[in-house]
Amino acid sequence: MMTARSPRILITGASGHLGRRVLEILLEQGVTNLCAGTRTPDKVSDLAAMGAELRRVDFDEPGSLRKAFEGTDRLLIISTDAIFVPGQRRRQHRAALDAALEARVGRLLYTSMPNPEPPSVMPIAPDHYEMEQAIEQSARSFAILRNSWYAENLLRSMPAVIKSGRWYTSAADGRIPYISREDVARATAAALLDDSTSHVRYDLTGARALCTQEIATLANDVFGSRIEIVPVSDDELSAQLAASGMPAAWVPRRVATDVNTRRGKFDVISDAVIRLTGSPPQTLREFFAMHCQAFQNSGA
Ligand SMILES: NC(=O)c1ccc[n+]([C@@H]2O[C@H](COP(=O)([O-])OP(=O)(O)OC[C@H]3O[C@@H](n4cnc5c(N)ncnc54)[C@H](OP(=O)(O)O)[C@@H]3O)[C@@H](O)[C@H]2O)c1
Repeated sequence: MMTARSPRILITGASGHLGRRVLEILLEQGVTNLCAGTRTPDKVSDLAAMGAELRRVDFDEPGSLRKAFEGTDRLLIISTDAIFVPGQRRRQHRAALDAALEARVGRLLYTSMPNPEPPSVMPIAPDHYEMEQAIEQSARSFAILRNSWYAENLLRSMPAVIKSGRWYTSAADGRIPYISREDVARATAAALLDDSTSHVRYDLTGARALCTQEIATLANDVFGSRIEIVPVSDDELSAQLAASGMPAAWVPRRVATDVNTRRGKFDVISDAVIRLTGSPPQTLREFFAMHCQAFQNSGA
């Protein structure tokens, strides 16, 4: 009797935080026929030892992608981090999609962001929106993963806030349902295994959206810190971030995040994580407790 082979799943960005973790989760679950696509196969040789096939995938080399995607039933396109060269990320994602269509990949998954529709103040939104639209118009079967802000983003900004005791913000009472990258990875792995709905969008979010004051209160409770919120205008925030030593290219992006938060554009809550995985996403309190030491580092 013939047994159905398991679908071949290829995950791009396999050496990045999210791609690697999605692959590890699937391998730990005993899923077979997995491909790790990355610019740097050497960095994921451990995944090959666990059973994944390695393929070189670089969206900046469009000519190589069709072959890389050949024989793939389900493809997770992880959005790249090329956000500083205008137009580069759009070209990269388009090249990945074109190659996937040429290679007749059965199902596409793509990592997007909350509310990318225009108008958006977020410089990264147009790339995501265009890619969503292109996928929806061309793919036979797809899942768009609109990932909320990672809780890990707070690991970059909060140690300095904890140290100084002052959190400058123009986000007012806007809210973000932070989600740990681990929960995004768990839900993404589950979404890759599920093809019961041919056209689907998942908002992968934490269970509760918190405003800056609530996050500060929570941090003070968990870390014993004394963070005070300092409400400022967007211009004042920009000046304060520049004075704090933040690289110039990051300052407008950080301010845009506060504006987007203030406008409620991150405030999307869904139960997609629990529906996909069967277990709820980690709360921000749990995330803080788990990374207590990292949050209390000097912030240097
Ligand atoms: N929701 C959020 O808060 C949030 C925060 C940060 C980032 N993101 C987005 O989510 C993505 C995954 O997050 P992460 O934490 O895994 O980021 P990360 O660790 O910084 O990884 C960056 C990813 O971009 C891939 N990449 C870069 N250039 C590429 C190219 N030319 N062709 C193909 N892939 C390329 C890398 O793949 P290889 O190096 O393996 O080739 C890697 O997977 C990021 O790239 C970014 O678009 C979201």
